Amino acid sequence: MTPHKTDRLHITQVCQRSGLTAATLRFYEEQGLIQPAGRDGGKRIYHRHVLRRLAFIAAAQRVGLSLAEISTALATMPADHAPTPADWNRLSEPWKQRVDEAITGLQNLRTSLDECIGCGCLSMRTCSILNPDDEAAAEGTGPRWLRRTRNQ
Ligand code: FES
Repeated sequence: MTPHKTDRLHITQVCQRSGLTAATLRFYEEQGLIQPAGRDGGKRIYHRHVLRRLAFIAAAQRVGLSLAEISTALATMPADHAPTPADWNRLSEPWKQRVDEAITGLQNLRTSLDECIGCGCLSMRTCSILNPDDEAAAEGTGPRWLRRTRNQ
């Protein structure tokens, strides 16, 4: 078989085109995210559409999805063809909320940092970075978070 002239790619070609290492591809395979189409001379070969699957994985990771979440998403798509635009839209639409939540979290952190700059109290009880929304108060009195950190 000559993968260069078919819809199949040697693992080295997939690595070159995706920028990923062979070890990463093998890891993704172990996680069930991609599947090789077979072997040629002992080396893995893949359907060409694995590149779009890898692109999907990369995009999902940039949004912050775990490999388990990515695996769940990919499991809703047939493994024998590339994700279609409809697949992409269906799977990525919920990611917007995750990005919005991350933006809100970072904006809140930025606001807290503004409050901390020039303060320097580093109080486990009152510092809004160390104790956002006074979460420590719900656990009782005293230096709850120091104790938690020491015991972990
Ligand atoms: S260091 Fe004082 S509020 Fe954060």
